[in-house]
Amino acid sequence: MNTKKYFEANKKLWNAWVGIHAKSKLYNLDGFKSGNTSLQPIELKEVGDVKGKTMLHLQCHFGLDTLSWSRLGAKATGIDFSEEGIKLAKSIGDELHIDAKFICSNIYDIENHINEKFDIVFTSYGTIGWLNDLQEWGRLISKYLKPGGFFYIVDFHNIMWMFDEKYKYFKYSYFFNEEPIVLENQGTYADGNADIKAIEYGWNHPLSDVINSLISNGLQIEFLHEYPFSVYDVFPDTVKGNDGFYRLKEMENIIPMMFSVKAKKSE
Ligand SMILES: C[S@@+](CC[C@H](N)C(=O)[O-])C[C@H]1O[C@@H](n2cnc3c(N)ncnc32)[C@H](O)[C@@H]1O
Repeated sequence: MNTKKYFEANKKLWNAWVGIHAKSKLYNLDGFKSGNTSLQPIELKEVGDVKGKTMLHLQCHFGLDTLSWSRLGAKATGIDFSEEGIKLAKSIGDELHIDAKFICSNIYDIENHINEKFDIVFTSYGTIGWLNDLQEWGRLISKYLKPGGFFYIVDFHNIMWMFDEKYKYFKYSYFFNEEPIVLENQGTYADGNADIKAIEYGWNHPLSDVINSLISNGLQIEFLHEYPFSVYDVFPDTVKGNDGFYRLKEMENIIPMMFSVKAKKSE
């Protein structure tokens, strides 16, 4: 598949979204600058202590999570293909004197930029839907892990990408779509009222493809967790539970909305 056209369009969208997200309530950049972490309790608990560990953060957007891991003592490197995202990530890091590295690259071109191996490879919330080739993704994750290191992903559940725009009916296949799904967005998930229209190209993947791409590239699965809620209020028509998390109205606790996986590279 010639993905160049799709990645170019997606990059344009992400470059345009960075400035909107930097001003959004969801990303709360002011809060981050005043010391808040952008990380959620789930990944903080499941990744555990990162002090002194080297970490590669894939698809880091404008870097808040990468910088949050650095604040916790990780030696973190964020990569993303959005020039605007990486520019802002670097400037926030410089302004706050946080020691993190940022690299502008498509995930699939990462071998042109990075040689070292890491204790942890991390990625979160809104990742694989932008990627067409999970086998190659798994190969790269494995390549950049030190023996004994681990990969961790927490993301929205694969089922969440089957819904129609109002999240009432299943519209898209659960299984991999060779040809990308084309969506025209008005606003963004962080600011639905933003005056911006953009086309995105995405791919659905079953959860089995995520797991098998890791196994077939030599990683051992330590856990797979599924959660009946989203930590972010990014889906339409949700209700907020007493736990502070969001569920689709009238589907509360009957569908998985997020998953996480930890997978280890053997010593
Ligand atoms: C939803 S964001 C990542 C979420 C992150 N947890 C956050 O909210 O800060 C998705 C990121 O993937 C990046 N991205 C999409 N496709 C990519 C690709 N092929 N290579 C590298 N980065 C990509 C986008 O630029 C965007 O920053």
